[in-house]
Amino acid sequence: MNTVGKPPANPGRDDVRIMTLQAHILEQQAHHPQAGGTFSWILSALSISAKIIADKVRRARLENVLGSLGSENVQGEVQQKLDVLANEVLLRTLGGREGVAIVASEENEEPVILREDSQGIPRYCVLFDPLDGSSNLDVCGGVGTIFSILAHDGRAQRAEDSLLQAGVRQVAAGYVLYGSSTVFVLTIGKGVDMFVLDPSIGAFMRVEQNLRVPSGNKTYSVNEGNRKTFPEGYRHYLDWAQSSGYSSRYAGAMVADVHRILLKGGVFLYPPTLKSPEGKLRLMYEANPMAMIMEQAGGKTMAGPKARILDIQPTAIHQRTPVILGAADQVDAVLTHLASG
Ligand code: AHG
Ligand code: MN
Ligand code: MN
Repeated sequence: MNTVGKPPANPGRDDVRIMTLQAHILEQQAHHPQAGGTFSWILSALSISAKIIADKVRRARLENVLGSLGSENVQGEVQQKLDVLANEVLLRTLGGREGVAIVASEENEEPVILREDSQGIPRYCVLFDPLDGSSNLDVCGGVGTIFSILAHDGRAQRAEDSLLQAGVRQVAAGYVLYGSSTVFVLTIGKGVDMFVLDPSIGAFMRVEQNLRVPSGNKTYSVNEGNRKTFPEGYRHYLDWAQSSGYSSRYAGAMVADVHRILLKGGVFLYPPTLKSPEGKLRLMYEANPMAMIMEQAGGKTMAGPKARILDIQPTAIHQRTPVILGAADQVDAVLTHLASG
């Protein structure tokens, strides 16, 4: 039958509806009272930041902003020029939002207090890794932005008192992957939704709702260069996986590795090492938001044989944690070996 020129049979159907991130946020706001106006404005600031950073990442070589800045951040890590630029973009966009009380970033030693009193408005703390995997930039590898949103405690005496909440209390979390396309993944505690930037119209378009991490994918993602200094249980796991038909995939950017696992299954590991006995990844703006997304997609996330990442009570904004996250079946396979290691 020739259907050219005819309207779709049912243009209101969910699978044919065009939904932008902006419209999705408004839809959520209508369904969930906790997603009120000030909160929605924060998500919109993150969406604008993502578009600006995506543009900077794409033009980095042309505008000569690749390479290191010659400085180190609070973690003692070399800052790339784009780490600093992305941080400024986020600080500027979030800074204008009434609902943001405090921001904390990988690139700033101290949290930035924007608004102290609540004035009857629900306010939030936003924590972020402005550019994750930034050493991939020079080689056109995938990089990302990770964010975590917590409710601000207006009674807190110090910024830390409001910020240092366990990951289980996150109101929302997400990441942006600047890869072959720019992808925005978001949870506000009701499943995980995915949006892709359409550069021709400058909008994030919803492409997936309620993502579920698939099981049965025999793939692990870990920096095996560190294997000799992993605790014994992790080495047992790798021995077992390598004799059980597993594949290895490692992008060197958590956002890129976690995104692959969210869509395809498998497990991501950053164990303790001799160099980083607490693990390398940061609890509050890398592990917690990724753990919330993974659990909201039906996956599992642990900081070791016993501790669930989201239950860790933080004691410092930049504290680190070991990370095991991915499909529940694949995380359980790791845990079996940690228990016997
Ligand atoms: P960042 O660029 O924000 O410092 O993060 C880099 C992190 C993370 O993205 C990645 O999973 C990990 O570092 C890679 O570390 P190794 O090079 O030690 O494998
Ligand atoms: Mn990072
Ligand atoms: Mn970073």
